[in-house]
Amino acid sequence: MHLAELLFVSSLSVATFALDNGLMRVPPMGWLAWERYRCDIDCDHDPKNCISENLFMDMADRLSEDGWRELGYVYVNIDDCWSSMKRDDNGRLQADPKRFPGGIHKLARYMHDRGLKLGIYGDMGTHTCGGYPGTTLDKIELDAQTFADWEVDMFKFDGCYSNATEQEQGYPLMSKALNATGRPIGYSCSWPAYQGGLPPKVNYTQLGEICNLWRNYGDIQDSWDSVLKIINWFFENQDVLGPTAGPGKWNDPDMLIAGDFGLSMEQSRSQMAIWVIMAAPLFMSNDLRTINSGARSILQNKIAISINQDPMGIQGRRILKEKSGIDVYWRPLSKNASALVFFSRRNDMPYRYQTTLSKLNYTTGSYQIYDVFTEKTMTLKDSTSFVVSVNPTGVVMWYVSAPAKRNIRQFYRGGRLQGSLFDDDDENAISPVFL
Ligand code: GLA
Repeated sequence: MHLAELLFVSSLSVATFALDNGLMRVPPMGWLAWERYRCDIDCDHDPKNCISENLFMDMADRLSEDGWRELGYVYVNIDDCWSSMKRDDNGRLQADPKRFPGGIHKLARYMHDRGLKLGIYGDMGTHTCGGYPGTTLDKIELDAQTFADWEVDMFKFDGCYSNATEQEQGYPLMSKALNATGRPIGYSCSWPAYQGGLPPKVNYTQLGEICNLWRNYGDIQDSWDSVLKIINWFFENQDVLGPTAGPGKWNDPDMLIAGDFGLSMEQSRSQMAIWVIMAAPLFMSNDLRTINSGARSILQNKIAISINQDPMGIQGRRILKEKSGIDVYWRPLSKNASALVFFSRRNDMPYRYQTTLSKLNYTTGSYQIYDVFTEKTMTLKDSTSFVVSVNPTGVVMWYVSAPAKRNIRQFYRGGRLQGSLFDDDDENAISPVFL
């Protein structure tokens, strides 16, 4: 090799080694096959409709033709059971030729032609959770390069069939290997979910440095019980989890299931609202070909999405858990705004919850309120008593346009709300910008 070539190659490798992938500065959004489809993308279950790649192309068509892409839903993600049971002669993973006759690279091109991105799944262990070939430590670089060669945009790295020591090596190694390919590939780590989701076992500082998002907890299923269990766990542990999230690094409570079979419309709104407050990745797992208009309008709610995608990327908190069964959630937003969610755990009747903004830690002033799901607006003084009627297992969600400067340093001090949430200057000046 000539000296000039050598220098060029070595400068490239230095540059790629240092690459901070710069991805997912706001929570990623898209569609993910697992919750709705599992391994039923497998021929054996439905021989007549066994070409799984059609499902992903259908979802891509829907995302690009039915207004989803413009709202930010751009990832189309393959989950488990996509690969052949055997690696190829060069030891590379290969797609099952029956289910993905065009191969993964062609599918990636299909997505890119439509302004979408393709995600794929692997497992840091001997096998995937579904029993397909895993990515053991010695295969990490090869598999990262294979995904980059296929022009894949996101990679979920699951953790079945590996032990804690292997995971400790494998997750950071894969991060390096993906970066070293030079292709920007969003990296979703299931590592914390395999370590119980909490420190001291989980090192969230490290995760924030190596992964763009991470699954902290168990799998979502198509039921309200499952959604509630996830909500409870995330907010019981909010003091630990909240501060770990930020631009490029997100807690992932798992997929949105509106449009499936288990949730009522109220519950679908609740899941959306609380995922939005959490700054969670928004990956739907549903059938976009047949989704009903109610679920569609919840998932396509522009204001909810813009709250989720707020550039400050601060994960919201539960600020009240009332004996009446009402929870109040709050998330600070850019432009000195904030979001509030009133959520009912009740199963009996719509509950009339009475409070004031000052009881919810807002400082003196007038606030413009936009109700995210009814699209009504109003102005409220901090001291004015108001009533929200919250349906059983439902939410009322507000975008609160506020004038005062927030004191974010105070927000998470000691993991608890400290004193006033807002600085005392600037009060009463209503922001002219209302989304
Ligand atoms: C695990 C993951 C799920 C899904 C399945 C696939 O359970 O947590 O999200 O990827 O494996 O087998």
